[in-house]
Amino acid sequence: MSDKTQRIRQSEIDRQMRFCDEIREHLLAHSDHQPLAYTQTYGCQQNVADSQRIMGMLREMGCGFTQDPYGADIIVVNTCAIRENAEKKVFGVIGQLVHVKEKNPDTVICLCGCMAQQEVVAKKVKNSYRHVDLVFGPQALWRFPELLYEVYSQRRRVFSIQDEHGSITEGMPVVRESGVKAWVSIMYGCNNFCSYCIVPYVRGRERSREPEDILSEVRALVEDGFKEITLLGQNVNSYGKDLDRPMDFADLLSEIDQIPGEYLIRFMTSHPKDAGEKLFDTMARCGHVAKQLHLPVQSGSSRVLKAMNRKYTRESYLEKVRYAKSVMPDLVLTSDIIVGFPGETEAEAMETLSLIEEVRYDALFTFIFSPRPGTPAAQMADPVSRAEKQVWFERIVDAQNRISAELHREYVGRTVRVLVDGESGDMAWPLSSRTHGGRLVHLKGDAALVGRYVDVRVVDSNTWALFGEV
Ligand code: SAH
Ligand code: SF4
Ligand code: F3S
Repeated sequence: MSDKTQRIRQSEIDRQMRFCDEIREHLLAHSDHQPLAYTQTYGCQQNVADSQRIMGMLREMGCGFTQDPYGADIIVVNTCAIRENAEKKVFGVIGQLVHVKEKNPDTVICLCGCMAQQEVVAKKVKNSYRHVDLVFGPQALWRFPELLYEVYSQRRRVFSIQDEHGSITEGMPVVRESGVKAWVSIMYGCNNFCSYCIVPYVRGRERSREPEDILSEVRALVEDGFKEITLLGQNVNSYGKDLDRPMDFADLLSEIDQIPGEYLIRFMTSHPKDAGEKLFDTMARCGHVAKQLHLPVQSGSSRVLKAMNRKYTRESYLEKVRYAKSVMPDLVLTSDIIVGFPGETEAEAMETLSLIEEVRYDALFTFIFSPRPGTPAAQMADPVSRAEKQVWFERIVDAQNRISAELHREYVGRTVRVLVDGESGDMAWPLSSRTHGGRLVHLKGDAALVGRYVDVRVVDSNTWALFGEV
């Protein structure tokens, strides 16, 4: 593995675009309709952002998009490897695609994303899912046109999962599904090697985009009328450490905040070990930055945190939360929890519960530990049964549901500013919207409001959402 970030040159992107042209000609020569692509995405926002690039490349190949895999010339499944469940689901889906291939032998089926970067998965697909034509990991994303061209021109299956350090590619085409919200990756990869986590193994080392490239992308989005821009990275707080001219994430936020216009900046994810007073002060000061923080704690036990290789303690985490809330009284705070890490005792799981009661998060994403082959935690003794972990899990989820409902109830009667982001399909509350802090508000109002900021009066609430009237 090379230890230097590769910055992909424009000439290389141009070369990839020429492969798109070749594929377009091939598809048009072999069919009487506009070629269609079907894409399906699993996993985190990073994967969603990657899929938007894949769709950008597919569009360059002349493809329209369909919701029906049976009508597609090209199928792309972008996968997630974070937990075993996620992988099982994907194997189910690609197993089903064999029927598509039987019916339409010319359809090319591609598997990409974090699962595809793992050698064991590639092997399994090679041997047992012979209808899959192309497998490539996130590191090879920018070479998708070239790899697909190989499938077409050499009529063979292609597997590209070399363990590369990772690259940075600018100027790739992108299809954004909404005209209101956009994802902007500011960095790729992760260096943290939390002992349970597969991400560093499949997404390579941390590498930051140049601030100028990020700023010009955000500026263009604001000029195009986007209202909500989410900056993405596995750990945005270590942004910039690898740049020639070092700058940190708080500096980047301050610079983006200077861009004029009516828009909000969100970001995820923040690793607590690197989030500190400078970041919270910057968030508090910058008008465009949403007062919203996703700060995954994973566990409330310092002993478990050490075993997880998280590099902070319960106390130092709580200290940071206290500071963040003191400078941003309206802060909306969310977190991730892992229940049943190998060796965790009931008392330690209940320390997580007491941390939740102390912090009072707005919402929580709670997961039962899932061993990921190749990570240190997968080797650790794990004596507690799944059933017992499930009991702890439910206690934590119940407590959080109660807290979320209580926090939501405090909003009833208040007026909040929201961005209307879409239609909900619900007759009673036809619009969905988000507060600046990112809380979901179901709304009564006209569809013409989509994409606009409005003030709404909150009239009701439940565990998951608020209900309001314009
Ligand atoms: N980069 C982010 C998280 C990415 S993964 C961060 O550092 O917080 C999203 C969440 O999945 C993690 O926060 C963790 O709670 C959960 N997760 C990751 N690996 C897991 C595993 N092996 N088992 C269960 N949950 C896991
Ligand atoms: Fe995984 Fe930890 Fe990196 Fe997050 S910071 S992606 S949990 S290794
Ligand atoms: Fe899944 Fe990869 Fe994201 S493993 S959570 S899609 S970084």
